[in-house]
Amino acid sequence: MSEQAVKTGQSVSELRCIGCCRIALPDRFRCEHCRDLLEIVFPGWDEQGPAGLNAEGLKQLWAERQSSFDPADRSGVWRFREILPEITTQEIITIKEGNTPVYELAHCAKSAGVQQLFAKHQGMNPTGSFKDTGMTVAASFARQAGYRWVACASTGNTSASMAAYAARGGLHSLVLIPEGKISWSKLSQSLDYGAITCQLKTDFDGCVRVLNEVVQKMPVYLLNSVNPYRIEGQKTVAFELLEQFGWEPPDHIIVPGGNLANSSAIGKALREMKQLGFISRLPKISVIQAEGANPLIRTIRETGGEKLVPVQAETMATAIRIGNPASWKKALRVIRESEGTVEQVTEIEIALAKAEIGAEGIGCEPASAVTLAGLKKLVKQGFVKANERVVLILTGHALKDAEFTLKFHRGDLFVGTPFESQSEVLQSQQRTPLVLEPNVDAVIHLLRTAEHGHKKD
Ligand code: F0G
Repeated sequence: MSEQAVKTGQSVSELRCIGCCRIALPDRFRCEHCRDLLEIVFPGWDEQGPAGLNAEGLKQLWAERQSSFDPADRSGVWRFREILPEITTQEIITIKEGNTPVYELAHCAKSAGVQQLFAKHQGMNPTGSFKDTGMTVAASFARQAGYRWVACASTGNTSASMAAYAARGGLHSLVLIPEGKISWSKLSQSLDYGAITCQLKTDFDGCVRVLNEVVQKMPVYLLNSVNPYRIEGQKTVAFELLEQFGWEPPDHIIVPGGNLANSSAIGKALREMKQLGFISRLPKISVIQAEGANPLIRTIRETGGEKLVPVQAETMATAIRIGNPASWKKALRVIRESEGTVEQVTEIEIALAKAEIGAEGIGCEPASAVTLAGLKKLVKQGFVKANERVVLILTGHALKDAEFTLKFHRGDLFVGTPFESQSEVLQSQQRTPLVLEPNVDAVIHLLRTAEHGHKKD
């Protein structure tokens, strides 16, 4: 065991380079020798498993915690703390993240061509996105390590989440976002939660470049997804999902791909679950990107996964408008070992899929909808069979980008864009807001017409 290892009462974790396997100090992000990313490993897990418990023991312990009133037990992340790096209880910053619902999507299943389809809705987290599950761990580590400042570059969700956790934990936070390229609701969150919010005249990748230099010069802890503690927290979505499925793995999990940390985290969780005896087979994990922000697809198709092909990213799904993803090697490993795949979807396909998820009474932000759009393609290609149990990871809440939704329903989302001529296919999903005189008969007439229309369906 290395002397830098974080010794804990229950388990021991350390940071290991994904390239050369050297051990790094607990607050680093890249290997000092080969510059590859780091990941947390648990040499302290003994023969039996974490905290001396095997899979059955852990399942029982985690289930019991659901009826506890302890703040850590109430969190859908810290409830699984045996598989996380240990943080002293009083340093844990939690807003009761995790514990998100799984919904069955009957209409989307039909439209995609599968018998059963589920959505694990990470948009139901406290700040409206999956980022909260990782942020609770990384922000808590920052506080435990004595940092006063935390910072991130973001397409909007990381910054909203970081600002909230920093505020709850008494830390100061600095946000760098691309000017004009994130949704208003996400920007408003980081302002409201008290972060110093800077809009830089560049894209997300440019913000990352600036921030990487800032954190080298200032005692500021980086909370971007290269932070390995974030990955640990984000792992818990897979533990929670499997628990919700009675520990029977689905056949396929589909994840949106941006900076590629979430797919990496879900893959790491499943790898660990197999290692610990929770499951005997891995579900396939597939990653879907927007066609205009498709560096992973190009990396695989053009170099066989040898070398990252960065792109100049452009998509209305602004959360995943990322051309130079940091975690591409980790994601690639997950796709390969789970025998999943990658696919890309167009702006029109994203908009249509988002409306279909909305029409189920669930909703999500545009970046999350790439999962349904991608599934449709994978079914058409025969990669996903109709009888497979598929889970879409919906990463952000519908209210994260209300402007996109309104423009979609008004029919002007694609006006003046290169996609305008293809946007006719969206009409069946568009519901224009109606303006009427305050007249009872007019409303009744409208109701009757609508009822007549439904009878014909
Ligand atoms: N979905 C949403 C809603 C996101 O906000 C992001 C990333 C992703 C998917 C992609 O996840 O990067 O782990 O592959 N948002 C980051 C941010 C980059 O700054 O909020 P990934």
